[in-house]
Amino acid sequence: MAGNWKMYKTPAETHAFFETFKPLVGHASQCDIVICPPFPDLHAAVLETRGSAIGIGAQNLYWGKEGAVTGEVSGHMLQAAGCTYVIVAHSERRQYFGETEADVLRKTLAALEWNLTPIVCVGERLEERESGATESVLAQQFDGGLAPLTPEQFARLVIAYEPVWAIGTGKTATPQMAADAHRFIRQRVAAKFGDAQAAATRILYGGSVKPDNVKALMAQDEIDGALVGGASLDPKSFAAIVNYTV
Ligand code: PGA
Repeated sequence: MAGNWKMYKTPAETHAFFETFKPLVGHASQCDIVICPPFPDLHAAVLETRGSAIGIGAQNLYWGKEGAVTGEVSGHMLQAAGCTYVIVAHSERRQYFGETEADVLRKTLAALEWNLTPIVCVGERLEERESGATESVLAQQFDGGLAPLTPEQFARLVIAYEPVWAIGTGKTATPQMAADAHRFIRQRVAAKFGDAQAAATRILYGGSVKPDNVKALMAQDEIDGALVGGASLDPKSFAAIVNYTV
């Protein structure tokens, strides 16, 4: 269960979040827990979660190690700061910052090089779903961003299926719609990397996941976890998502 805080919270708010959140998930063993705060909060988040089972991730990275690239942050720096995950190719990065499949591949490789688990996002926009292009969009994103990896590299990442029309809108894909998309992605993984890898690959669903819909989504065999935006900002609601079986 991964929380994506997007551009919310200061370091002080990060401390306050973990103070409430940690005791609520102290006994959670049914899933891995990851929080992805903005860059300035990473240090506070790493300190707060030291010795706990909560992993910390960034929301983006640049593919070089260091250099004259004003405003960017490298995988090397994230690893040194204590991150173990990083989100790659969130639809807001694709949409507002023009990230291409070539960028997705470079960023995924950079994350792996620095031992960060990439959470690589794919997903169709509303007009693509309405015109029946969902599968071709997912295929194109998979083929361009992930298929060029070696089997060893691919085995170390997590995929997040996030239909763009469901992000921050309150419109969740039905569990069935999400499962269909996950199945399609998994078939693509099987064709390229084999059945065993397809079965082992974790595919998270993201898009308006809340405490009251997580159970129905997670009841789908195809759905291995969730990437949660808005509902991860409140420690009680994200804890309810982590503890969805209870
Ligand atoms: P949301 O965001 O849960 O607020 O819809 C999900 C995401 O963008 O990762």
